[in-house]
Amino acid sequence: MLAIENTICIRNYDSKQFPFYEIFSGHCLDTISCQHPHLLHEYIADNLKPNKILKVGEDQATYAHSILYQIDPQYQKNRHQQNQVKDRGFIKTYQNFISFLEESFFGEKLVYQKLPTLRIHFPNNLSVGEYHRDRDYNHPMEEINIWVPITTAKRTATIHMESSFDRGDFHPIELEYGQYLIFDSALKHGNEINVEGYSRVSFDFRVIPLSKYKQSEGKSINQNMKFAIGDYYQI
Ligand SMILES: [Fe+2]
Repeated sequence: MLAIENTICIRNYDSKQFPFYEIFSGHCLDTISCQHPHLLHEYIADNLKPNKILKVGEDQATYAHSILYQIDPQYQKNRHQQNQVKDRGFIKTYQNFISFLEESFFGEKLVYQKLPTLRIHFPNNLSVGEYHRDRDYNHPMEEINIWVPITTAKRTATIHMESSFDRGDFHPIELEYGQYLIFDSALKHGNEINVEGYSRVSFDFRVIPLSKYKQSEGKSINQNMKFAIGDYYQI
């Protein structure tokens, strides 16, 4: 596999083979009549939008997140809720994307986050509450982070990252739809208040090359899941 230490790498994928935009826009259209995810903020009523800057622990819990997470039955907790949600093939496409990463980038099997994390970066707000390394929240150090925008991700509407370990020189990593970012989980990252006038939507997940995977006792802060195959991870 490629060496990932201290690395930030932007790569392209075939958005016809992995039509994430069509899946997200179809879901937004059916649920809140929003055809284009970058206009999400215009289709959420003001009283349902966060009325302050989101903090850690709040940045996955807005009304818009509850809508977005209905994108696939696998995010639903029980059979009843699963039956309410249309299967647009998001998780299936994600699993195919993992196979693509195994073949095209890592050259080995991956232990991967079972369900990717969905992000909304509303205008005048944050999408994650603070600059951090995922290991600050109990994640294993062996993880490699992968970040996939559904909209354009630029300037203050994208992820900001330091250029090497502990350097603290945060700068925006700009991507277009059809690109994805792979980065060493040792690099501190976060975001700025979005002043670009559009909503950025993205998803992200963590993988561990099977040869590096070790059983871990830590638990995730948002879902209280063990960082183990069968809980947070899948293979
Ligand atoms: Fe993170």
